Amino acid sequence: MKVYLETMGCQMNRLDSELVTVSLRAAGHEMTDDRCDADVVLYNTCSVRRHAEEKVYSRLGGDSRRKAHHRPRLILGVLGCMAQREGAELANRFGLLDIVCGPGQLARLPELISAAADGSRVVALDPDPIEARRGAKATEGAASADDSDFDALDLARDFQDGHAGAQAYVRVMKGCDNFCTYCIVPLVRGPERSRRPERIAQEVRRLVDAGVSEVTLIGQTVNRYRWSDGSRTFAFSDLLADVSEIAGLRRLRFVTSHPLDFTNDILHVMAERANICEYIHLPPQSGSDAILRRMNRKYTRSQYDELIDRAREIVPGVVLAGDFIVGFPGEAEADHEASADLIRRSGFKNSFVFKYSPRPGTAAARTMLDDVPDEVKRRRNNELLAVQHEVGLAHCRSYIATTVEVLVEGPSVRAGKQGFEPTPQRTQLAGRTRGSHIVHFLGPERLAGQYVNVHITDATALSLQGDREAGQE
Ligand code: SAH
Ligand code: SF4
Ligand code: F3S
Repeated sequence: MKVYLETMGCQMNRLDSELVTVSLRAAGHEMTDDRCDADVVLYNTCSVRRHAEEKVYSRLGGDSRRKAHHRPRLILGVLGCMAQREGAELANRFGLLDIVCGPGQLARLPELISAAADGSRVVALDPDPIEARRGAKATEGAASADDSDFDALDLARDFQDGHAGAQAYVRVMKGCDNFCTYCIVPLVRGPERSRRPERIAQEVRRLVDAGVSEVTLIGQTVNRYRWSDGSRTFAFSDLLADVSEIAGLRRLRFVTSHPLDFTNDILHVMAERANICEYIHLPPQSGSDAILRRMNRKYTRSQYDELIDRAREIVPGVVLAGDFIVGFPGEAEADHEASADLIRRSGFKNSFVFKYSPRPGTAAARTMLDDVPDEVKRRRNNELLAVQHEVGLAHCRSYIATTVEVLVEGPSVRAGKQGFEPTPQRTQLAGRTRGSHIVHFLGPERLAGQYVNVHITDATALSLQGDREAGQE
């Protein structure tokens, strides 16, 4: 059958979709980019903000009408975080929905599609997240020593097919136990579990053998990675050290880090290993202690500032990026100013800024009033972005007249808008530095997937512009 799969959300979902695609192809299905031509339409969904969910409702509305009027055999499925959050209710709301599949059940998707083709409605959900955590506590110790198949989807990875060119994601952990009060992730992705270090290293080794040179280790709080089997304990710094030794791995990255668990051990490994990129995505969420406390972030503003200073001291040239939530319940103008001040002090390369969106079932939605009006959220959002724009511009301009190593990703979306007709021999290319800056420069298309040195001549708040050094391939 022809399958259309659309992905919303974070890098976890993108990796899940990549792995699901491989398993669907292995089961004999064909992927298509054309939703109207597909026999199976799947959405891998995100629940982190209401807006992300509304997009899926509107897509499902359109698909349901098409199914009702023209395509009675069309199979419709919702996968991932929103499927897990809403469960059977989603199927009740959309009567023509065939598959609801939680993020931990994706390895079963080919089987669910077969069942749907036979006329069944299938709802495959992960165990209740709160119950699952109780269960894990009862068997602590054994829990991390067993070889459970919570990473079945990752283990089935196809190393010829399961990644895009030179870059690949590798999951090191699943779930999250932090329970930031605004966040749905612990309720949809279940308890935090770390994968066996040998499995991670083997996956990276195979990807490198298949031509990958840049690997990003991913986890909701990747730096909380911890594996223990009684005789030895493996922390995130140990994992980084081990994986960085894999021959042929030119760049090693990781996202997303929680400020609370960012130990000096991690910073030292970053400084020592040449292939670990000096880039840390370290979301502060707010610059105000009062708000951080109500968010249950478990660190203070001064601890965050101190961590940034430490990172800059131990890892020379480290590039930092942040996330902020504006309009969290009770956020006063002074709290908002504290976030702006944090950005000014931080030197962040970039920040993502989100308007607070109450998520059903979270502590904030249950116990705090969403009392900041939308127009105030919008204004604060714009204000933080404006401050970040200044900071990002100064940061990017500091690279002018230096030479940076760029992994070329391919022709830039700007190609063709440069006042000349691009050719395969000369087009506007885009790539990334070790610090994750986007770089634009002219070159031949065949450089995609390769590393080149680019001399930086200009910068905006979001990207660098330069010339390829002469004499390079
Ligand atoms: N695991 C990552 C973040 C996952 S969600 C971490 O802990 O940093 C990605 C970002 O979405 C968060 O950093 C936060 O800024 C934002 N976010 C999460 N829940 C939100 C909500 N209810 N409303 C608005 N933004 C939210
Ligand atoms: Fe959500 Fe907090 Fe976990 Fe990040 S650390 S996924 S924001 S609960
Ligand atoms: Fe969204 Fe789920 Fe990721 S809620 S941010 S897709 S873990």
